Amino acid sequence: GKGAAMVTAVAYRLASQHAERQRILDTLRLSRAQLLEVKQRMSEAIMRGLSKQTHEQASVKMLPTYVRSTPDGTEHGDFLALDLGGSSFRVLLVRVRSGKKHNVEMHQKIYNVPQETMQGTGEELFSHIVDSISDFLEYMGMKGASLPLGFTFSFPCHQSKLDQGILLRWTKGFKASGCVGQDVVTLLKDAVRRRREFDLNFVAVVNDTVGTMMTCGYEDPKCEVGLIVGTGTNVCYMEEMQNIELVEGDNGRMCVNMEWGAFGDIGELDDFCTQFDRIVDDCSNNPTKQRYEKMISGMYLGEIVRNVLIDFTTKGLLFRGKMSERLKTRGIFETKFLSQIERDSLAMRQVRTILQHLGLTKSTCDDSVLVKEVCTVVARRAAQLCGAGLAAVVDKIRQNRNLNQLSITVGVDGTLYKTHPHFSSVMQETLKDLAPQCQVTFHKSEDGSGKGAALITAVACRVKSGGQD
Ligand code: GLC
Repeated sequence: GKGAAMVTAVAYRLASQHAERQRILDTLRLSRAQLLEVKQRMSEAIMRGLSKQTHEQASVKMLPTYVRSTPDGTEHGDFLALDLGGSSFRVLLVRVRSGKKHNVEMHQKIYNVPQETMQGTGEELFSHIVDSISDFLEYMGMKGASLPLGFTFSFPCHQSKLDQGILLRWTKGFKASGCVGQDVVTLLKDAVRRRREFDLNFVAVVNDTVGTMMTCGYEDPKCEVGLIVGTGTNVCYMEEMQNIELVEGDNGRMCVNMEWGAFGDIGELDDFCTQFDRIVDDCSNNPTKQRYEKMISGMYLGEIVRNVLIDFTTKGLLFRGKMSERLKTRGIFETKFLSQIERDSLAMRQVRTILQHLGLTKSTCDDSVLVKEVCTVVARRAAQLCGAGLAAVVDKIRQNRNLNQLSITVGVDGTLYKTHPHFSSVMQETLKDLAPQCQVTFHKSEDGSGKGAALITAVACRVKSGGQD
């Protein structure tokens, strides 16, 4: 009768809504063939970045770092390290001890960099950094000491030596004016000079990936790749000198900062981008730039999720079609929520609590299930893309060495990688599938970027002084 017809109508509507949602989510799902394609295109991008002829147009810049040797345990001394470009700005004092039980002792202080400072003038930004250093030296009671300093500066820099870095572009949340095209060591030295209070002894500018690789390499000599999946994403690895056409010399290896976040900037990812990726890109600080990073890293995944949820809501497929102001707010889905929502032990009731916490109060249980599914799909795609890119890197290293099988360690850091319950397993699964001739071990680095900068500085000081003392 009538009742049955109504039930059928409701069932029909639910089924078609379900199909509609899945159709949208499918645009965020990648097949194996697509992932292989990503790997292939990353391999080509690597070649373009390394070769002199194509470097100019290349998206993935493959920047020489002038880091050649890894720590051997004989380096020692006290070093200062600065770390700018992650989720916080830090100043560190690092004490490196040599000998059998080589170890590293650290003291650090974390300083806030307000949004206005990140996006104000370069002078303001670097003065703020120097204020923090001054506070730290005061706090440690070492104002007079001019220690060798390593500066972890996690942005793309052109280097022609270890203690110089010309900023090529800002990425992530930074946008301070008057810095692009300038040497960041000079900018910092100028700020120190303006303050007329103390001197600094600059030895090295270091990308966070390089610091991470070095820290991990201190314990594991097979560590020849550094990976960051945090606010941004990037990789460095040891490349053969003869392949690095931008640097003279053919002997040995040098660490290359890939700046792989910019992969896709000349269209390499257009086939895989969804409408959501395009919106996130359009609304970002740096439209059309860092396209790969925007599909992978912590600063953007939450935004992708939020835009999918907005689309669902507009189409009446979520929150009963009721749009809330909260959902329209940029940045509400922080990395920690993404990680929390996907924790396996979490009951749906708790997902709902998180949604309430986000101000999405009128959610039903079905809504929670769907929100969780969106998070899963978006994070899975990120991890797979990252794995596909890594497959290209490790296969390149394997081919460089003419090996049938390569066994290698990757040092990793970054909050998304470390806190997300599935990111690393999905990434590793993808890597295994796409680079079967490489046995890759992942080694989480404890505070890679700070410690790493000090170790690189220590190695540089050892090499400079001939390692005699
Ligand atoms: C961005 C930066 C890069 C850094 C990465 C991780 O991609 O451009 O230099 O390594 O974020 O922090």
